[in-house]
Formats: sequence, structure tokens, C-alpha cells
Amino acid sequence: MSERKRILTGDRPTGKLHLGHYVGSLQKRVELQEKYDTILIIADLHMLTTKPNREAIEQITENARGMVLDYLAAGIDPEKVSIYLQSAIPEVYELNLIFEMLVTVNRLNRVPSLKDMARAANISDEEMPLGLLGYPVLQAADILLPRAHLVPVGKDNESHVEVTREIARRFNHLYGEVFPVPDCLVGDVPTLVGTDGQAKMSKSIGNCIYLSDDEAAVNKKVKSMYTDPNRVSADVPGTVEGNPVFIYHDAFNPDKAEVEDFKQRYREGKVGDVDVKQSLAKAINNLLAPMRERYAHYAADTGFVDQVILDGTETMRSYARETMQEVRKAMGFAGSWNRLRRSAEKRAKKQG
Ligand code: TRP
Repeated sequence: MSERKRILTGDRPTGKLHLGHYVGSLQKRVELQEKYDTILIIADLHMLTTKPNREAIEQITENARGMVLDYLAAGIDPEKVSIYLQSAIPEVYELNLIFEMLVTVNRLNRVPSLKDMARAANISDEEMPLGLLGYPVLQAADILLPRAHLVPVGKDNESHVEVTREIARRFNHLYGEVFPVPDCLVGDVPTLVGTDGQAKMSKSIGNCIYLSDDEAAVNKKVKSMYTDPNRVSADVPGTVEGNPVFIYHDAFNPDKAEVEDFKQRYREGKVGDVDVKQSLAKAINNLLAPMRERYAHYAADTGFVDQVILDGTETMRSYARETMQEVRKAMGFAGSWNRLRRSAEKRAKKQG
């Protein structure tokens, strides 16, 4: 294995990526690809935890392609990063089963995001699938299969990486040091508010600005963004704190002096929402413009993203084989298999 430390992270292939993904995690992944050996997972098995239906499975190919295009558009370099399809690596199912022995049902019941995911998918407590309860265990298998050191993810995944750390420690304690205990890294804006002012930008709520939105779409979405509802006209002093328009300015407008000036005038009732929003739309479009170009470039090359996924999956396959060999050796499986084999061979020889 290479000298550089390794990153493993990724997303479920459920749809287009948005600005929340970008500031929550993707931006960090782009930065860190220069320093870390980076592997991105298209977590289609995790998608099955809430959507095991055939239609969802049939959409995996298209959603995976779209997601990889979003990664490349955001600046992930396909020359430097491996991107792979989770379901194509059998070892992850195998390691998942071993890890299931190292965590309690009680512990998993305390992972807050699982209840949120169940609720969002209309799954009642009674209907909770074992696989959804085991979501963080499968994620631990993803992370530890390539023996990653760092996991850049959104805030909602922090508790999953905590479970990964516990499983790694437990495995190492029982069988010997095989796994690093990976660190979690959350982006600059852990949870981005939606354009509607709701706590979280989320596809299911429909309050997103997508990385692949064109200029007109961004302008329209920003124009109708939720802002200080008490401000009926530009000369009324407004509230900056917690105002989504200013949260976005802080996150996406690199001209800090302009942002400070807007804030001051907004508080004093000396600037209209229209001006503040126009400048925000411009900043977001400036961020997205090079992404749109890269997206178009890669999308025009039919079969390119498919090749990227195939290559990344081959790379992952070799890491997976290597780790599983270590795992079997550490657990002593190799020993019992060899004993059986040797005695069977001896018998065969005696019988001629
Ligand atoms: N749980 C991640 C999500 O919210 C997807 C994922 C699956 C993941 N396996 C992972 C993220 C391993 C980081 C590392 O979509």
C-alpha cells in the first residue's frame, strides 16, 4: 500500500448533489485529494436500507453516473481519485457480517440519524429493517476495508464514523492491530440551511440549489429565498443573524468586505433585499460556472465516467482482497481452514 494516508468517503446514489453537499463535505474532499490517497464510494447498498425496491435498483446506473459527473464537476480529479461501486465488491458484505458481531443493538438504537432516515422514508418503528439499523456497521465496513485514516462527511454522518471507530478498536483489541481508528472531518458549513429557511438543504424537502443548476435557475431560486420576514421595505432595519441570505453570503461570497458592508447597511435599513440577493446569486454563479464547464466537458465524453467507475472498482478490489486476507489471518480463520485441508489431503494420500 502507498505511503500516503488514505481517505474513504462517498454518498448514496439517490440524486443530484447540491450546495449543502459541497460546503458540508465535497469541498474538503477536493482540497484533500492532493494530500491523501482518496477513494470515493458510490454507496448503492446503503440506498437499499430504505429503498430495496426494483425501481431503485434499476436507477443505480443513471444515478451513479450523475453523481460521478457532479464529483468531477466539483473538482474531483479522476486521475488522482478512485471512485467505485460498493455492490461490486463482495468483501464489503463479508466484513459487514464480521463487524455485526462487534456492536450491540442497543448501541445502534442510539444513533440519531437512523431514526431520521426511517422517518424520511415513512418507515415506522415496527417496520425498522435490520439492514437500516445496521447502516453504520456497513459504513464501518466501507471505511475500514481500504483501511482509511480520514472520513470527510456531512454532519449527519458524524455518529456513523463514531461507530466505525468503536468497531475498529474492538476488532483490534480482540484480534490484533489490523485497522487504523479513522478520524471524521466535517466541512466548513456542517449543515446548510435550505433556501426556504428550513434547518437543512435536502432533496426530499425541495429547498436545494444543485451544483448542476444553470444561471437562470440559481437567479430564480435566490430571488425567492426566505429572508427576514419582518422586513416589508428596504428602509426597515433587518436581522442578519440566522438569515439564510446572509448565511449563504458567508458561505459562498469570497468578497468579505462586500458581505460586511451589506450586513451593516441591512441592519440600518439602508439596503434592499433585492440588491443583497442579486449579489448572492452572482457569487453562487461564479462558484458554479467552472463546475458547469467541467460537467459539460466530461458529460460529452460518452463512456468516460463508466470507465472511471470500472477503474476505481478494480483498484478497490485489490485493497479489499488484501485487507480480508489480513482479517482472516488475524481472526484465525486461515488456521482452521488449513487444518481441515491438511488432514483431508493426508487421508487422500493414504488412500492413494
Ligand atoms: N452514509 C453516507 C450518506 O449519507 C454514504 C456512505 C456510505 C459513506 N458509506 C460511506 C460516507 C463511507 C462515508 C464513508 O450518504
